[in-house]
Amino acid sequence: MRYGKNAGKGTLSVWGGEERVFADNTTQVPVFLGVAHAYEDLDEWIDVSLGKKPGHIYGRNTNPTVHVFEEKVRLLEGAEAATSAATGMGIISGVLCALLSSGDRVVSVKDTYGGTSVMFNEFLPRQGVISSLCDTTDHEAIEREIAKGCKLLYLETPTNPTIKIIDIARLAKAGHEAGAVVVVDNTFATPINQNPLELGADIVLHSATKFLGGHADVLGGVACGKADLVRKIYHYREINGASLAPMSAYLLLRGMKTLGLRIARQNENAMAIARYLEAHPAIDRVFYPGLESHTGHEIAKRQMRGFGGMMSFTLKGNSFETVRKFLPKLNLAHKAANLGAVETIAGVPATTSHVECTAEERKALGIPESLVRYSVGIEDIQDLIEDLDQALCGL
Ligand SMILES: Cc1ncc(COP(=O)(O)O)c(C=O)c1O
Repeated sequence: MRYGKNAGKGTLSVWGGEERVFADNTTQVPVFLGVAHAYEDLDEWIDVSLGKKPGHIYGRNTNPTVHVFEEKVRLLEGAEAATSAATGMGIISGVLCALLSSGDRVVSVKDTYGGTSVMFNEFLPRQGVISSLCDTTDHEAIEREIAKGCKLLYLETPTNPTIKIIDIARLAKAGHEAGAVVVVDNTFATPINQNPLELGADIVLHSATKFLGGHADVLGGVACGKADLVRKIYHYREINGASLAPMSAYLLLRGMKTLGLRIARQNENAMAIARYLEAHPAIDRVFYPGLESHTGHEIAKRQMRGFGGMMSFTLKGNSFETVRKFLPKLNLAHKAANLGAVETIAGVPATTSHVECTAEERKALGIPESLVRYSVGIEDIQDLIEDLDQALCGL
């Protein structure tokens, strides 16, 4: 073994899952594009098929490159097992479909990622699953809903796009008292900043498209947790067929080598920008859990090691017209429906997290008109602040 069992997150980002020696002693994990794995020995083939021996049979089920990616995330999240999917929504819909049946009740919050909300409001009801979506930061209300009985408690923290914080340990306890499986979307925090399983969750999942990949060039999803639950999620995925492609797994592995470094820099940059924006006269509110003014700051301090690279803010006057003037002036930011990359990315909920919602629905969710979502990159901090400064000037 190259590293000890107490190896840090930076070491695991680089080496985690990469113990196996591949052909010709290559130092990098190869991209295994072959769809099938062949066996001359029928008994060995049967043993691998039955899971009695390690190995691979068919690419929709498992693949060696994909397996290394799953292992890296599993180690970073401190989980028993991991499985993956082609996208974040692939894994989210997989978790929900694999663990819920007709007649079950799921409790979640109003501020989950837009695609996840569509699962709760549109697709799960069609399968006879009832969703109860609570005010995101009203912990008492969430506990009351859980106590009415629920099969699955689904949390996301920090949330998208208003960066609300949910107390995972408190709600995981309430969920377990009701006999629920507790699932947490950890996309915004990353395993560098937060490990929901340590806080009591049963399953942690990611849109690997975001910070895990980190370079905005690959889609992926991953879920880790208790082996019996992960087996069910894997089984659903192997049949629904939304498997992660080997080339995507390779790009994710390559991106993840620098996960520890990138997140440390993004935490630092985001904190400095949040403080700068909070003091700026053209800014109304800044939503960043590292700020003492953030309503979830105390919970975030308890459950996060760093406050992450995601923030949002509102412009004075709270009009969409001001956002129209501000966004194009930003030079050091892609204006795009993505987040978590090495480049800074800015967007508005109407075109990013809540593109699926109508203006009325966004209003009902308490998403202000002038909200800007800002995913902080790894650029030099003085350049990012200079850029924001010139863009905010004269608004
Ligand atoms: C928190 C969160 N979860 C899940 C997803 C869905 O991920 P994907 O786009 O990889 O399907 C997103 C996408 O933005 C997200 O922000």
